Amino acid sequence: MIIAVDGPLASGKGTIARALAAHFALPHLDTGTLYRAVGVAVADAGAQPENAQAAEAAARALDFAAIDETRIRTAGAGVSASIVAAHPGVRAALVALQREFAQKPGGAVLDGRDIGTVIAPHADVKLFVTASADVRAARRHGELVNRGEQIGFDQVLDQLRQRDARDASRADAPMMKADDAIELDTSDLTQGEAIRAAIAIVEKRRGL
Ligand code: DC
Repeated sequence: MIIAVDGPLASGKGTIARALAAHFALPHLDTGTLYRAVGVAVADAGAQPENAQAAEAAARALDFAAIDETRIRTAGAGVSASIVAAHPGVRAALVALQREFAQKPGGAVLDGRDIGTVIAPHADVKLFVTASADVRAARRHGELVNRGEQIGFDQVLDQLRQRDARDASRADAPMMKADDAIELDTSDLTQGEAIRAAIAIVEKRRGL
């Protein structure tokens, strides 16, 4: 069973994808880590994320096993990820790895922006997880502050709006709800409620 979980940042898609993977005993890939790692690698190479050539070179050289979880989770890495992710060459370099993961025997759970539309259009179940901008900004602000980052709520909300707009408007594989995806709005749900709702959607789709 392949489960595609898409949605904007801090919508709860990562938490839901991890929980679905644990519940259905499937491997999980957070595809945002790939774009974040490319953003960090471009900066390490002394280039700007807007530099398509440098970003594509970083994507082609990406060592998945060497991704530094701490460095890719900063607010800055999120912004860079969104910029490098708009370069078609970067997306092309990362497609094969993601499709291979989706084809694992027994299936997989992948979360991102284009899983249901581009990476795994034939996924058995597709979820599009949303939440209001204010709720998402409050969640992400809390996470960043917990990690020791000094950043204000307004700056997080501002970055979130810019990233949403960039991710949804790029020409190549924009963030989009697949026609056959089921939307799950987590604005008023606790983590536990969102996870239970997602499990129920998958079970219903699969006739379990
Ligand atoms: O999910 P995230 O916040 O870790 O993703 C970081 C950025 O990576 C996001 O703003 C856009 C990009 N991304 C993408 O373009 N396609 C994906 N499948 C996953 C992430």
